[in-house]
This record gives sequence, C-alpha cells and structure tokens, in this order.
Amino acid sequence: MFESLKPGTPDPILAVLGLYRDDQRPHKLDLGIGVFKDHSGNTPIPKAVKAAERRLLEQQTSKAYVGMAGDLAYNEAIKRVVFGDLDLGDRCASLQTAGGSGAIRLMGEMLNASAPGARVWLPGPTWPNHAPTLATAGLSLETYPYFDFGSQSLLKEQMFAALAKAGKGEIVLLHGCCHNPTGADLELEDWHRLTDMALAQGFLPFIDLAYQGFGLGLEADAAGLRHMASHLPEMLISASCSKNFGLYRDRIGAAILIGANAASTSAMRDLLISRTRLAVSMPPAHGAEVVREILSDVALEQSWREEVEAMRLQIQGARQALADQLRSLSNSDRFDFIAQQRGMFSTLGISAEQVACLRDEHAIYLVGNGRMNLAGLRADQAEPLARGLLAVMNAED
Ligand code: LMR
Repeated sequence: MFESLKPGTPDPILAVLGLYRDDQRPHKLDLGIGVFKDHSGNTPIPKAVKAAERRLLEQQTSKAYVGMAGDLAYNEAIKRVVFGDLDLGDRCASLQTAGGSGAIRLMGEMLNASAPGARVWLPGPTWPNHAPTLATAGLSLETYPYFDFGSQSLLKEQMFAALAKAGKGEIVLLHGCCHNPTGADLELEDWHRLTDMALAQGFLPFIDLAYQGFGLGLEADAAGLRHMASHLPEMLISASCSKNFGLYRDRIGAAILIGANAASTSAMRDLLISRTRLAVSMPPAHGAEVVREILSDVALEQSWREEVEAMRLQIQGARQALADQLRSLSNSDRFDFIAQQRGMFSTLGISAEQVACLRDEHAIYLVGNGRMNLAGLRADQAEPLARGLLAVMNAED
C-alpha cells in the first residue's frame, strides 16, 4: 500500500529542535522554535492561565462535546482582543481553531472552495509553514518582495510595486505584527497605503496575527489591521493564543472572518464549520475555555495584560543586551537593528555553512539563514551568543 511514499521533508524549525535535544553540551543555546523563556529558561504558564484552569477544574461538570462552533463566548471575546473597540457587527464572525495554523489551513480551504486555485501573495521571506499549508489547501502561490537581509531593511517600494499587480480574486497575506522571521514590521502609514490599494484593486487581505502584544503592545500591534478592518468590505485574520496566552500546546486560535454583509460572513462561517466536522469532527474545548475565563473576568484580564507586557519588555531587553554586546565586541553599529526590530525573531541572513558552524562549534542553534528566537535568550547568554556570532561572521574587532 505505502511503497510509493517518499520520506518526508523535515520542517526546518522542527529539525533544529530535534538536533538541539540530541546535543549533550551543557552550554548549548536554543534560539530555534518560537517560544518565550523566562530567566530560568522555562516557558512559563501565565498566572492568569493557571487561575483560569483552577476555576475550570472546580467548576466543570461535564466533558460532553461542545457545539460545532466551539466556545461561543471565546469566539466573541477574542474579537475584542484583536479589534479593541471596533465593532463590525454581524459582518464579522470568529471561530475557534487549532492554533493560528488551524485558522490558516481552514481559511485556505475556504478560499479554495470559493475560488479554486486562487493566487495568494506571500511576503518574501515568510514563516516556512505558510506556503505548504496554503498550497495543500489548493491555492497557488506568488511571492512579493518584503525584506533585504543585507541592509536589514524593508523593501517597501518593491513590495508596493509587486502588489500593484494583485487584483480582484487574489489574496495578499500580511503579518499583523512581529514579522516572522525578520522582526521588521510595516508602519501605520504602510497599512493605510495597503488599505487604499486593496480598496482600489479589490484584492483580499489575509492577516496572520500570531504575536499580538510582543511588538509594541497589545493595542499598538493591532493598529494596522484595525485600520484595514474598518475600511475594507472583506478581510480574513488568523489569530493565535499560543504566544500571548502561553497556550502553545493547547492549540487555540481563531479564524476571524469579515464579509461584505451578514449573509456572506455566515456562509463563510458555515463552510469552516463543515470543514472542521470533516477534519476533526468536534472542536477541542480546553484552550478556548481558558481564554474565555480570562477575558470574561476584569481582574484576570488585567493580570494577563500585565504578563503579556512583561514578556514584551523581557524580549526587548534581550534584544538590547545582544545589540549592546555586538556593538562593543565588534566596535560597530551594524547589529543595532536587533534592538530596533520587533517580536520574537530577527534573522541575520547568513549562510547554511555559518549556521552549521554556530551549531557544531558553538552549540548555538538558529533556524534557516540565521533566524534567532530572541524570546528564548537569557541576559547571561547575550555575551557568548555575540561572541559566537562574530566568530562565524568574521566580524570581531
Ligand atoms: C515558529 O516560527 O518558530 C513558531 O511559529 C512555531 C512554529 O510552529 O513554527
């Protein structure tokens, strides 16, 4: 039966995780997969999550199925995190999904059901799972220029020129904030310009919002997409609670649908529900219930917001510490971009050989062409990391 199956291609991020786990060196440093780590190297469960889980443990009386749309209160509450005060009424629906990735896959299937093989424009570079997920859903892919590693800057004019060709029936994927893998975000004025282009040309923005709160803060990180949502007739958002709620393994996110009218939104939602039925029969409950508990209690929500802010500040501190070390050891400002970029990741744009050398000779684990998860860096690791990076990049003073 299975003779024709070829060995799978390992995901580049998960492959690094496997190599790191096998490494016996005590000083090894994992800057691979995007998880936040505290000062002791642990990925903590936020206090608000623990408190919500305790309540669930005490109050839950049944494990019977939840309905096909999952937790309805969660579906409403997550819209408030993403949109703030912006109320789009019944043109907007939200549906719980298995992480943000589940939303990307489901909405990809919905797009393909409605416009088979439609073209999706992805930023170059983007999260390595975007292309295979959307291609597997049946969509065709195109790349628009986004970032230049050599100058560590956005390719804004090239991006706008490429997207001038995106028309009606095409989809443009944008990172809501904390671009993965570059940490380089669009400014609000760029979101305004893209909104005007979408209105004039008719393309559909698809926003991947996986790191809300880790860039400039929970509200500022959503400012661009909120502007878009308040001006455009149609838009899709995949939201994730993995990072900002620390619920990585519980797999909770949301597909947020904005349609031209209530009937169109309702049809989109129905399609997602029927695909969920085919894929997993019934949605899981735990992650959605935890987030619902937090967002339905003023004190718990406040505690959660403070914890997100603390994580954001720690990441910013790690960025600054590494940039400072690199500046003093290399006697140059060429790495200052690390302190200026946002969210978990920055990418050095180095060769596969240099990444392998960092791993083999310095026990430093990076992804792809030098993507570093700065949310996994402790203060005391900034100096050995800077030394390792400069050694392989031949940039030591
Ligand atoms: C990452 O890019 O490291 C995270 O989004 C985790 C993942 O699943 O790839």
